[in-house]
Amino acid sequence: MVGLDQVATASFAATREIDKLAEDIARKIGFAHRYAVPRLAMALSLRTSARPEPVSGDPGRSIRGENLFGTGAFLAAWVSFFIEYEGLPLENIADLQRRVRDHWCRGVKLLWDRLGEVREDPYNVFWKFLAEHLPRGDGLPVGRTEPPRRPGPIALPLGPAAQDPSTGTPPLFRPVARGASPHVAIMGGVGSGKTRTALFMLAEIAKQAPVPLVAFDFKGDLTGDATGLDRSFAAEVLDPLERPIPLDVLAFDPAKPHARELAAQRLRDSLAALKGGAFGAVQRGLLGDAAARALASHRPCRLEDVRDALVAVYEEHGKARDGAVETLVDLCRFPLFEPKEPPADFFGRARVIRLRQDLPDLVRSVVAALVTDALDRWLNAGPDTPVDPEGNRALRIVAVIDEAHRILGRKLPGLSNLVRMSRSKGGMIWLISQSPDDFETEDDDFLAEMGLVVAFATNARPGATKRIFGSRVELADLGKGEAFVRIRGEKARRLRIW
Ligand SMILES: Nc1ncnc2c1ncn2[C@@H]1O[C@H](COP(=O)(O)OP(=O)(O)OP(=O)(O)O)[C@@H](O)[C@H]1O
Ligand SMILES: [Mg+2]
Repeated sequence: MVGLDQVATASFAATREIDKLAEDIARKIGFAHRYAVPRLAMALSLRTSARPEPVSGDPGRSIRGENLFGTGAFLAAWVSFFIEYEGLPLENIADLQRRVRDHWCRGVKLLWDRLGEVREDPYNVFWKFLAEHLPRGDGLPVGRTEPPRRPGPIALPLGPAAQDPSTGTPPLFRPVARGASPHVAIMGGVGSGKTRTALFMLAEIAKQAPVPLVAFDFKGDLTGDATGLDRSFAAEVLDPLERPIPLDVLAFDPAKPHARELAAQRLRDSLAALKGGAFGAVQRGLLGDAAARALASHRPCRLEDVRDALVAVYEEHGKARDGAVETLVDLCRFPLFEPKEPPADFFGRARVIRLRQDLPDLVRSVVAALVTDALDRWLNAGPDTPVDPEGNRALRIVAVIDEAHRILGRKLPGLSNLVRMSRSKGGMIWLISQSPDDFETEDDDFLAEMGLVVAFATNARPGATKRIFGSRVELADLGKGEAFVRIRGEKARRLRIW
C-alpha cells in the first residue's frame, strides 16, 4: 500500500540529461518554478497511449512529491493518473517513482523535440504545441471520450444541381434536426454518381459542423481530387499495406461489466460472419474461447495474440488445425493493426482507411468489420451528445462505408448496432452500395433506419426500395444524374442531383 502522505514526502527525479533539457525549456519559456516543466512533460506523456520506454542514466535533481504534484486533490489526481495509465495498482513507492520518471523523461523529450531547435519566438511555438497536444476543454484523462462538438443545425443540399422541379428550390436534408435520423444510404448502378454525391454532401458537413470522420476506401476514389475527403475533412489516409492502422482495435472498457466477454463474442461473430457461415458450431466455440483468453491476458490485445491463443486452444483439445486457424493465420500474415491509439483518440480525428484491391478480399472485409466493431463499442458506450434548444443534436463522428456490399448482408453485429443505436450518441453512418438488395438482410432493414435514401438508376432488383419509394417506381428508368430521394418525414420524389 502506498499512502498519499508517503507520496507527498517522497523524492522524484528524472535523469541528469533530461534535467539539462528541462532547464533550457524553462529558460526559453520563462517558467520560474521547477515543477512547471516536469508537470507539463508528465501530462503530455500520459496523453500518449503507447507506453514510455524505461529510462536509465544518472538520476537528476530530486523534487519532493508535494512540490512536484501539489497537495490534496491535485496530489491524489496525479497519483491516480499514473495508476490508471498502467491499469495496475502501485506496488510500492519505488514503483511510482519509476512511472513518474519514465513519463517525465519522455514528456521533456517531446517538448524538446519541438522547442530545442526553435530560435525565434519559442514562447508562441510552445503554447501552440500545447494547445494541439493537450485534451481540449475540461482536461479529460488518457484515452477518454472527447467532449463532442457543439450542437447546431446542419442543412445539406443533395448535389450541386439538386432542385425540386415542383417548387424550384433545392431540397435540404437536415440530419441532426429533432426527430431526424442522421444516417444516409446511397445506391445505384456502376458509375451512377454515388461516390461523387456522397463526397459533395460530406464536404458540406465539414463546412457546417467540423466533425471527425472514418471512411473505408475500397477504390481509392475518396481522396485525391477537389472534393476528396483529404481536402474537405483534412483526413489522414491510412494504408495498412504501408503502415499498420494505429488503432487498439480490440479495446474494451474493463470497468464495464462483461465488456471482455462481449468483445470476445463480437470478434468471434465478426470473423465467423466474414467467412460466410463456413465456421461450424465447434469452431465458433473454440474461436470464442481463444478470443476470451487473448483478451484476458493481453492489453492491448492484438490479432496475433488471438491467433496464438487459438492455436493453443486447438492443441489442448487435440484438434487438428482447420479453416478457422488458417483464417487467423492468413489475417496475421502482415500486421494490420498496431495498438497505438485507444478508440477515443483514433476516432477523434478524420481518417480514410484505404483498402486497396491488391489486399486479399478477406483482409479488406476484416479490417472494415473490426474497425466498425471498435467504433460501435466506443460510440455506443459513450454518453448521448448534447442537443441545442431547437433540438439539433451534436455529431460526434461520421462513418462512411463506400462499396458497402462488401460488409452489408453479412449480419455484422457492429454495423447493425451502429445504424440502430448510434443516433443519440452523435453517430452518422453512410452506406453506399450498388444494389437495393444489399441493404436488406434477414435481421435488419437498414433502409428503414435511414434519414436520407438516394437511389440512382440501376437494373438490379428493386428489393427493399419498394417499401420506401412504392412499388410503381422504376429505378431503371432514371436518367443520368437523376435519383429517387426520400428524406425521412417527407414524400419520396424524383430529383435531378447532378
Ligand atoms: N456531381 C457530378 N457532376 C458531374 N459528373 C458527375 C457527378 N457525379 C458523377 N458524375 C459522373 O459520373 C461518374 C461516376 O461517378 P461516381 O464515381 O460517383 O459513381 P459511382 O456510382 O460511385 O460509381 P461506382 O459504382 O463505380 O463506384 C464520374 O466520373 C462523373 O463522370
Ligand atoms: Mg463509387
